[in-house]
Amino acid sequence: MKIRQERKSDEGEVYELVKTSFATASHSDGTEADYLNEVRKKPEFIEQLSLVAQDEGGKIVGQIVLYKADISTKNGPVTELVLSPICVHPDYFRRGIAREMMEKAFEIARVMGYKAVFLCGDAELYRKLGFVPSYEYDIYHVDDAHKNAQWCMAYELVSGALDGVSGTVDIL
Ligand SMILES: CC(C)(COP(=O)(O)OP(=O)(O)OC[C@H]1O[C@@H](n2cnc3c(N)ncnc32)[C@H](O)[C@@H]1OP(=O)(O)O)[C@@H](O)C(=O)NCCC(=O)NCCS
Repeated sequence: MKIRQERKSDEGEVYELVKTSFATASHSDGTEADYLNEVRKKPEFIEQLSLVAQDEGGKIVGQIVLYKADISTKNGPVTELVLSPICVHPDYFRRGIAREMMEKAFEIARVMGYKAVFLCGDAELYRKLGFVPSYEYDIYHVDDAHKNAQWCMAYELVSGALDGVSGTVDIL
């Protein structure tokens, strides 16, 4: 499996991949492929952190995007990253591709100086990948009225990076 930066010419193939992959997900609303097209236009988008996984035949079977997101704190915004979306082709599930794409993207993000990644997603799945609910760091999703959401999760790229950072994130 080769993991590399996404190219402009991949966008059509990635669109179909995202459609096919999310069609298997019960939580999907079918808009993820269009959402990804919008993400690429955002000023927060970071080309180096949009990766694809290619199989031996060159077929794109996975994608991951990390883009900039602010933690709103009482001392002002702290810019870190949100992971959204990530998917793998159903024929390639459970072969470690999501894990491998994350490890690669996180390594690039670390080198770029980012310290943490947030996401909204399935707690059972993302715990296996090293995420913990963001409330454990005193960071809450803006929609988390009870400050106990399992689905808003955080991953420290640098151990201890979120010590002393508290606030809210407004992410999808
Ligand atoms: C979620 C998804 C990206 C996982 O991709 P994958 O390549 O199959 O995942 P990996 O093989 O790298 O697995 C990583 C870990 O997650 C676990 N895992 C994978 N899919 C899981 C699932 N649906 N539920 C719970 N755990 C899951 C694996 O067992 C593995 O943990 P382990 O090493 O402790 O066994 C893939 O199922 C997918 O694309 N789903 C459809 C789109 C989607 O839901 N994206 C996420 C939106 S929040």
